[in-house]
Amino acid sequence: MNDYVNITIDDRKIKARAGEKLLWVALDNDIYIPHLCAVREKERSNASCRLCFVEIEGMARPVTSCTQVVREEMVVRTRSTRIDRLVKTAFELLLSDHNLSCRECPANGNCELQKIAKERGLKLRQKRFKAIERDHTVDDSPDEFAFDPSRCVLCGRCIWADREEAGVGAIGFANRGINSVITTFEGVSLAESICTQCKLCVEACPVGAFYYKKDKKA
Ligand code: FES
Repeated sequence: MNDYVNITIDDRKIKARAGEKLLWVALDNDIYIPHLCAVREKERSNASCRLCFVEIEGMARPVTSCTQVVREEMVVRTRSTRIDRLVKTAFELLLSDHNLSCRECPANGNCELQKIAKERGLKLRQKRFKAIERDHTVDDSPDEFAFDPSRCVLCGRCIWADREEAGVGAIGFANRGINSVITTFEGVSLAESICTQCKLCVEACPVGAFYYKKDKKA
């Protein structure tokens, strides 16, 4: 097998490592594709955020670039009417339940949602989907960091860091669908759980859900 394949993304000819996922090839070549849930080291992406859609010549429907392995002569488009509509809908659904007081957010200016909005010309405040009332109690029990579920986008990157990088397994998803949350076993506080406070979850969070207390704005 060749070590490299030749592909085209948005009319640019690119040499990509065989077996690599399309999302990382695009990003490594400064071609932006919105993404929240993908982790480079992870063999199979959850593909849960539904933001990284692209069109591939010969395929009837858009596909998620975080799950698509590059192949020789692949021709990819990162923008089209269909793609833009899919990304906009996924983005609006994510934001329908998101705490948008950005000025008070520890991740303000360094937030993946703000980046996606800027790159794709999307609004952070949307009116299309109605928010659901939930309990969003902040868990500030760890010494140096806290978890604010009202800012969580359920990308699962913190869970991956906790399990695979730290090897702990203190947090996971609970419930399903619109009731999904990230929590500890039996919902105890992080300090009461098996969390070692290694802070890899904070480093992995692309928004302001897991944050350092020193970065809190108000
Ligand atoms: Fe591909 Fe989330 S990054 S679906």
